[in-house]
Order: sequence, then structure tokens, then C-alpha cells
Amino acid sequence: MKLFTAGRRLRPLNGSVDSLAGDKSISHRCAIFSLLSDRPSRISNFLEAEDTLHSLQIAKELGATVKSESGGVVIIPPKEIEEPRTILDCGNAGTAMRIYTGLLAARKGFFVLSGDRYLNNRPMKRVVDPLRSIGAEIYGREEGAFAPIAIHGRGDLSPFEFHSAISSAQVKTAMILAALGAKGKSSFSESFPSRDHTERMLLSMGAGIKSDGHKIAVAEMKSPLKPLEITVPSDPSSGFFFAAAAALTEGSNLLIRNVTLNPTRIEAYRILEKMGAKVDFIERENRYEPIGDIRVRHASLRAIDVSEKIPWLIDELPALAILFARAEGISSVTGASELRVKESDRIKSIVANLVKCGVNAKELSDGFTIEGQKQIRGTEVDSFGDHRVAMSFAIAALISDSEITVRDTKCVNTSFPNFAEIFSALCGDLKEREIAD
Ligand code: S3P
Repeated sequence: MKLFTAGRRLRPLNGSVDSLAGDKSISHRCAIFSLLSDRPSRISNFLEAEDTLHSLQIAKELGATVKSESGGVVIIPPKEIEEPRTILDCGNAGTAMRIYTGLLAARKGFFVLSGDRYLNNRPMKRVVDPLRSIGAEIYGREEGAFAPIAIHGRGDLSPFEFHSAISSAQVKTAMILAALGAKGKSSFSESFPSRDHTERMLLSMGAGIKSDGHKIAVAEMKSPLKPLEITVPSDPSSGFFFAAAAALTEGSNLLIRNVTLNPTRIEAYRILEKMGAKVDFIERENRYEPIGDIRVRHASLRAIDVSEKIPWLIDELPALAILFARAEGISSVTGASELRVKESDRIKSIVANLVKCGVNAKELSDGFTIEGQKQIRGTEVDSFGDHRVAMSFAIAALISDSEITVRDTKCVNTSFPNFAEIFSALCGDLKEREIAD
């Protein structure tokens, strides 16, 4: 098993983070959407992490040819999606599994999707039920609640009007891809608008898709779409670990460069601003998405109650929890029950680890409360197999009285393979070692 040990550090974080890897959500979509074209897609700065490499490998199993080009990949799609000879392995990636389920349900062929022990315990009914309701034939463990999932696609899905009670970009994307393959016009709406990379990317590929911010109308795709020509911006969710580190360390002034400034992705930075840190957003270009830099300067932090726009900061809540542990007062998060079905039950993982660090943290059914304190206790915590929990508790070492060791950190490779390198350069020593399980 892999471990991280991070010491505490007092030196401020200055300069810039230039080598953040590509955005995970956009990279998954690049691999998957390239299959909707009949010409090669060129993707620069594709995230080469385990999750997104699974999406790319699946594209290959479905007939695509992938070539590496300096700084990126070229994906040459097959004429028609091919029936694979093997199961499609999604690893730890819920995004890959749910989005591919939508794409493949609308195609002809037999497809089996499976993942690791964590992913195969995450809920799949959220995509299986709506897809079944429009005629998809999908099987899965416990009546389709969990993977492995088997899809018998006949290419005859019905058009639909579907409202999703949960706000999930994965569900939305699965349904939009199904709608592209269904006969006629469909529409999709959700309780709160989730991240919108799919709409932006498909629109640029020429898909018949129209969104008024609430309802997305999708027309059947009658001919192949234009290929993608894209430089994937850096991932603001990965950048947020260092934004948190800068906000926590006196004298820090850190520039996080080239991230997507899509409003559905940077809400955690806005919360950080409301807590008292100085945060500037510097937009430099707009291609598919607004892209630019985010500057974060340290200031003493105030507690905050977070209950709105949760889908726009859901991935950053583990790192925000570390900020709450240092802020003055009691912070709370509510309306975030989705945290229970992420890569781990993040409400349990965050609270259990903070309690081990001597913090007064409590679970709520749909969130948590955390009382801030001047310093937390250095100890050993668990990642629970969850990359964002692992990285958040490396950052927690910056406010602890001694080292924090995080157990089981191999999961960090799912989204952020060079996390340890950037951490060591900016925040101080991060020792990595391997022990017998
Ligand atoms: C993602 C959507 C979010 C997010 C996940 C990536 C995506 O999940 O938590 O890390 O790329 O579509 P939900 O769509 O389930 O909210």
C-alpha cells in the first residue's frame, strides 16, 4: 500500500502553478465524444491519469485508433462503433461508466462495462432507469443498480422528455448522448443546472442541441459530428488543493494558471473568497469555455454555511473541509447528500479523518459541520480509496502540529498523477513510501 507523509510548513506559497494536468471532466468527454465524428479529433493537454486513460482505452476497444502527438492525442474514430471483444473497464471512473452507458445504449451491439471494487458499488440506477424508460435493454447487478452493466443495444431508442430529480452532469450527458441516437427530438431538464461541458463541446461539434439554461433540447444526430480540436484547460478542481494551501499559509500569493473559469466549476473559489481570502479571476481566452488564471492570497478565514450551488463545488468539498477546520467559527455544508455516493462516502471519510486530527466535526445526513481551530493534530488518516480525500489531508498537514500520514494514496493517480511533485515544489516535503498491505 502507498502512503503519503506531509510535514507542516510555514514558508508561504508564492509564484505560479503552471503544470497542473488537464481537466478530468473535459478529457473524459474528449475521448468519448470523438466517437461521434467520422474524422480525427486532436486533443492537446489530455489528462493522462488513470480515470481518463480508461475512457481512452474504451474508445480503442470500440474501434478508435489513438496516436500520441507531442502534448496530446489524436483520436481516429471507427466508421461505426464496433462491438468489443472484451469487457469495457472503467477502473474507478464513474464518469466513464455513466457516460458510456448513455452512448452505447443508443448503439447496436452488446457491451459490458465494469470497474474496480469502489466503482462497482456506486449507484448506476440514475442512468439505467431513465435509459430503460426510453427502451434501452440494460442489465446489471441487483436489477441494474450496480455494475457490471450489460447493454444490449438495438439502435432504436425513443425520443423523450426527461426531468432528472438529481443534478448530475453524468446523468445529463448520458441522456444527451442517448437523445443523439434516438429517433426524433428529445429534451432534458434537471433540478439545478450541473456542469455544462457536454453542451458546450457538442454544440461546437455541430450537434443539434439548444439550452435555455433550464431545458436542453436535443435533435437526433443524422450524420457524424465535426471532430474536436481542443486544448484541454487545466483542472480547477486539482488546482483547488493548492488554492486551499495558499489560503491557509500566511504570506502566500499563488497564481493557478490556465484553468477553466466555467462558472459551473469555480464555485469553491467563490466560497474561499467569501471566507476572507483574496481571490482574483483573470480570464484570458474563451474557446469552448472561458479560460484563465486564478490568483489566491492568504487572509484569515471566517466560517461559512454552504447550502447553495452544491453541484458546482461538490468535488472541492473535501478540500473546503480542511479550510473550515482552520476558519474562525463553525462552518456547515447541507444539501450535499451526493457526497455519500462519490469515490467514497465523503461525509464519513472527511468527518472520520478530521475527528482523528482532533477537530470537532460532525456528520449530517446531507453534509457536515466543522468547528475551526488554530491548529489540528498530526496523525495517520485513511484515503478510503478516494483521491480527493487523500490530497485534502496532505494539505491538512499545513495546519497541523506535526506530520500527517495518509494511507492508501495510489488513488491519487486516478486524477492527479503529479500531485506529489507539485506539492513538494510548493508546499514542502511530501514523502511517499510503500508498505505491505
Ligand atoms: C462529473 C460530474 C460530477 C463530478 C464528477 C465529474 C463529470 O458528478 O462529481 O467528478 O465529469 O460529469 P455528477 O455528475 O454525478 O454530479
